[in-house]
Amino acid sequence: MSAAWLKDAVFYEIYPQSFYDTNGDGIGDLNGIVEKLDYIRSLGCSALWINPCFDSPFKDAGYDVRDYKKVAPRYGCNNDLYRLFGEAHRRGMRVILDLVPGHTSEEHPWFLASQRAEPNEYSGRYIWSDFIFRKTGQLNYVAGESERDGVYVLNFFKCQPALNYGFLRPDESWQTAMDDPDALATREAMKDVMRFWLDHGCDGFRVDMAASLVKLDDEEKSGSSAVWRDIRAMLDREYPEAVLVAEWARPRLSLRAGFDADFCLNDPWTGYPSLMRDYDLDHPEKPDNSYFRRDGDGDIRRFLEPYMAEYESTKELGFISLVTCNHDTVRPAWNLDTRERKLAFAFLFTMPGVPFLYYGDEIGMRYRRLPTKEGGYRRTGSRTPMQWDEGPNLGFSAGCADSLYLPVDPAPDAPTVAAQEGDPDSLLNTVRALLALRKEREELRENANLSILHAEKGEAFVYARGGLLLAVNPGAREAAAPVAAGDRRVLYAIGGGRAEGERIVLEPQSFVVWG
Ligand code: NOJ
Repeated sequence: MSAAWLKDAVFYEIYPQSFYDTNGDGIGDLNGIVEKLDYIRSLGCSALWINPCFDSPFKDAGYDVRDYKKVAPRYGCNNDLYRLFGEAHRRGMRVILDLVPGHTSEEHPWFLASQRAEPNEYSGRYIWSDFIFRKTGQLNYVAGESERDGVYVLNFFKCQPALNYGFLRPDESWQTAMDDPDALATREAMKDVMRFWLDHGCDGFRVDMAASLVKLDDEEKSGSSAVWRDIRAMLDREYPEAVLVAEWARPRLSLRAGFDADFCLNDPWTGYPSLMRDYDLDHPEKPDNSYFRRDGDGDIRRFLEPYMAEYESTKELGFISLVTCNHDTVRPAWNLDTRERKLAFAFLFTMPGVPFLYYGDEIGMRYRRLPTKEGGYRRTGSRTPMQWDEGPNLGFSAGCADSLYLPVDPAPDAPTVAAQEGDPDSLLNTVRALLALRKEREELRENANLSILHAEKGEAFVYARGGLLLAVNPGAREAAAPVAAGDRRVLYAIGGGRAEGERIVLEPQSFVVWG
């Protein structure tokens, strides 16, 4: 059973480097997040997910942790994070941290000890072979870097050696079983990290690469799932209010493994890319068939088919999280104009599950092609500083422009919070109105039922949440659907629509809620 607070939570994802800098060093900090809590709450968000803010050499923006229990000095100190938890709680908000359980930085003291030739407590904390001049089969590895006579396995980038949780079916002498003391010690070490932050007031974790723990796992990820069930049992006993959100994108597996929610991400099997990102970033000449493009050849069924299969089989178990974007994904302003994004967000925020808003998407921050920063590569363009007002550095920092973590959007019409505050029709205020509607109506809550009433290409798409009828027409022409609205009245609309007896008709680029 998930913590009660999750049932009406809306998350705001913060990339701490780029949110708000209070000490003028050009990089965001934890005190900056505290200062902006009221703003975040004003959007209708009730919880934060903060990307890794721990000590790190930042070869992968902090997903290469060097000390799990220490805030990176550039963001402040542990006490600043404890204060953030307290200030959030005082406002009825929650904070989840990013847990990176599958790997550490190559500079983590556990790894430095593990690299030594002399056997020690950490020799089995990572996955090492007992040979140097052979390959490790399907696993990526690094050879020739260590005093130790063996190669080590990677979880992602070269800077991220894989922690050892064992192999599902070890078949070589160097592969340990899941119940090997070394594999169990890794698991206990990760529980210890979780207890540390939960004891200081954190409300749970977004879990990085959650399915990656056990190596040579089967299709169903039974190995990693078993580890998570054990961790969940610890949380249920000791921290029943703690929430786990998986980066896994397989709700059928992750929710059964004890996660409360799982992201619907850019992996093609989720159907999610067809909504807003059905284009090829490297080939702009190819058509963009995203559903929310006014002129695209999109089809909502490409999303609904995989989504509904997951939703129907997991709705009693937990939540699917739809996101506007995240720090790994191209921002929706890349290919969708403001109206298209309003419609996309209207859809995302009226679906079941726990939604996530990526910082800056509420004002339409742009994706920019930028040189890589901290292992971001093409992701860097979605990680630029938040645009607060028209002041220096768009209000992000009082530091000099060339000291900024990344440059702010130089466009003369770069969107800002200040410019959109007073305009009732702005994207910012549309996001607020949508989240207010979601909060007001029980039918739009995380676990309230969803049913699809009409989904045909080129026609209005109609779905029901409890007794509410919701319809979307992202196209440039009027569109209808054979669904009767009965005596319901319009509760909320972007654009417009009308009920005509046995059908409803939507104006071009419209979204309407009848209730
Ligand atoms: C997923 C994270 O979202 C991404 O930013 C990171 O690079 C990898 N996991 C590795 O930790």
